[in-house]
Amino acid sequence: MNEVRETPRSIFNFAAGPASLPRPVLEEAKEGLMNWRGSGQSVLEMPFTSTEFRQIYEEAFSLLEELVELPPGYSILFMQGGAYGQFAFIPMNLLRGIGKADYAITGHWSSRAALEARKYGSVNVVTDNSDSGHTTIPPVEGWTLDPDAAYCHITTNETANGIQLSKLPDTGAVPLVADSTSDFLTKPVDVKRFGAIYASAQKNIGPAGLTIVIVRNALIGEARSITPNVFNFELLAANNSKVNTPPTWAVYIAGLVFRWILAEGGLMEMANRNRNKARILYEFIESSEFYHCPAARDCRSTVNVVFGLPTIALEEEFVTRAREHGLLNLAGHAINGGIRASLYNAVSDEAVTALVGFMDEFAISKKSHAAASRSRVALE
Ligand SMILES: Cc1ncc(COP(=O)(O)O)c(C=O)c1O
Repeated sequence: MNEVRETPRSIFNFAAGPASLPRPVLEEAKEGLMNWRGSGQSVLEMPFTSTEFRQIYEEAFSLLEELVELPPGYSILFMQGGAYGQFAFIPMNLLRGIGKADYAITGHWSSRAALEARKYGSVNVVTDNSDSGHTTIPPVEGWTLDPDAAYCHITTNETANGIQLSKLPDTGAVPLVADSTSDFLTKPVDVKRFGAIYASAQKNIGPAGLTIVIVRNALIGEARSITPNVFNFELLAANNSKVNTPPTWAVYIAGLVFRWILAEGGLMEMANRNRNKARILYEFIESSEFYHCPAARDCRSTVNVVFGLPTIALEEEFVTRAREHGLLNLAGHAINGGIRASLYNAVSDEAVTALVGFMDEFAISKKSHAAASRSRVALE
């Protein structure tokens, strides 16, 4: 059998998801894969009802409770179906016979959330930034909120567009529901401000296949009768999220990631690091005449930095050359094109420094190339 090659340390992964995981987590996962805590079993082989897996599961729950400082009156649900699944499960569970909900359209993912919700109830669009190509976010004070809505749905970070809400709307008594898939655990979260927060795992939590939902207990119990049992918040909360077989490996890795975040200093430390990484990259882009950032300054994402080069051909070459330099997965979202560097918790300062260094060299090589072609034309 071929020997497994160690990943060279100079490889940096900027994927939007599934994304980079902390190195110490991957190291520890080797033990979980082959022989978890000396049990002689791989986590992959454990029945979810076993004592060993129960321990893994309970540890993951309590570490997450600690990380988000879970207030009383809230449940954490470990679900499947991804955040896209939640676009349906949220209205199924939380419309509560009211039949209408507010949706803020701020980018690619919130547009899809609103579209899906229309299958289950009526959707009031409180703001829509489509005219700007999803590059600005209108001030929350001007949103046309419905005081009788069942909930108001926001997307705290638009992964595809590289924009992030810097302020939450004041929705009064209407519960705020957030798709926080790409910025969950990248900064402290005041759970009490939300009726529900959800995030699929493959950005900052762990592998794809697990979706975290945090929901206010007072909002559950009125799911539509068609709601499948495995996606019914009330049943999940009452059964410790084990209505059916949970995604055991994903929960195990998530637990390791939660422990890593706590050991590194918690969510405040993650926020400081992420702000700093994003600042370095945005400042470089701003200082350059070669790169440009479409997102308005007041809503630029700290986790998905989207930028462009003068031409599509140059962007394609940039992605290819970056890969050759060990800088992986920098192509923008399929719909938007351009370049996207995702700077989630596991992406190091070193990775950002390497990226900026490469961007500088690439820009210089293209400028001198352009200057050389211009002087050739002048000579001819
Ligand atoms: C903000 C946001 N919402 C929803 C989704 C869809 O998540 P999933 O593919 O896990 O269903 C994504 C995926 O990237 C996302 O970034």
